[in-house]
Amino acid sequence: MKLEMQQNEFEGKLITFCGLDGCGKTTQIRHLVEWLESNGHKVYLTKQPSDFVRNSEIFRTYMDSPTHDAFDYRALSLLCASDRVQHSNRVISQKLKEGYIVISDRYYYSCLANLIARGFKDDMWIYEIAKSICKPDMAFFLNVTVDEAIRRVRKRPEEKDRYIDLELQKKLHDLYISIARENGGVVVSTLMSEDTCFNRILFEVERMLNNK
Ligand SMILES: Nc1ncnc2c1ncn2[C@@H]1O[C@H](COP(=O)(O)OP(=O)(O)OP(=O)(O)O)[C@@H](O)[C@H]1O
Ligand SMILES: [Mg+2]
Repeated sequence: MKLEMQQNEFEGKLITFCGLDGCGKTTQIRHLVEWLESNGHKVYLTKQPSDFVRNSEIFRTYMDSPTHDAFDYRALSLLCASDRVQHSNRVISQKLKEGYIVISDRYYYSCLANLIARGFKDDMWIYEIAKSICKPDMAFFLNVTVDEAIRRVRKRPEEKDRYIDLELQKKLHDLYISIARENGGVVVSTLMSEDTCFNRILFEVERMLNNK
C-alpha cells in the first residue's frame, strides 16, 4: 500500500486531508486556511475529485443509485484518477511553483482506500498512476470512530436518511490508518474538540514550514 509518488520540488507546500465522510476534514481545513492567511501565506484551496468529475454522469449516477451498481466502481475511479493526474500536474504543481501552500480536501489516498476496500488491491494501475501524482509534504488522516463519523454526516439535514454501508466504512477506517502509516501520513484524532485537533494540526504544519 506504499505509493511511489512524485516529490514536490517547488517552493510551495502541499498539505492534504483524508478520512471518513464526516470526520472533520472541511472543518479543520477552514481553521488552517484562516491561520495561514492571517500569517501572511498565500493559500490555494482545492478538493478532489474536482467539479469536472462531480458533475459527470458516472459520478452522479453512482452517488444517486442506492445499490451503486449501475457502473463498475473502477470506471468511476479511473475517471477520478484521470482528474487527479490532470489536477496534480496542471493545477497543483503550477500553484506550488508560484509558492502557494496548496491544501487539498481529499487526495489520491482516498481513491486508494476506496479501491482496496472494494477488493481491487491488486489492480496495478492504481500504483502506476500514483507515480504521476505529487506526494504531499504533509498528509493528514483525520480519525474518528465509524459511529461518530456517521452521526456527524446524519446531522446534515440533506444526509439524514442517506444509505451508509457500515461494513465499507469500517474497512475504510482501518485502511486510512494503515495507508497513513505506510506513506508517512499524520493521523489526528478528531474525537477531541475542534480546537484541540487544530492545535495538533498546526503544530505539525508549523514544524514543516520552519524546516524548509
Ligand atoms: N472535532 C470535532 N468535534 C465535534 N464535531 C466536529 C468536529 N469536527 C467536525 N465536527 C462536526 O462534524 C460535522 C462534519 O464535519 P466536516 O464537514 O468538517 O467533515 P468532512 O470530513 O469534511 O465530511 P465530508 O467528507 O462529508 O465532506 C460537522 O457538523 C462539524 O461541525
Ligand atoms: Mg467536507
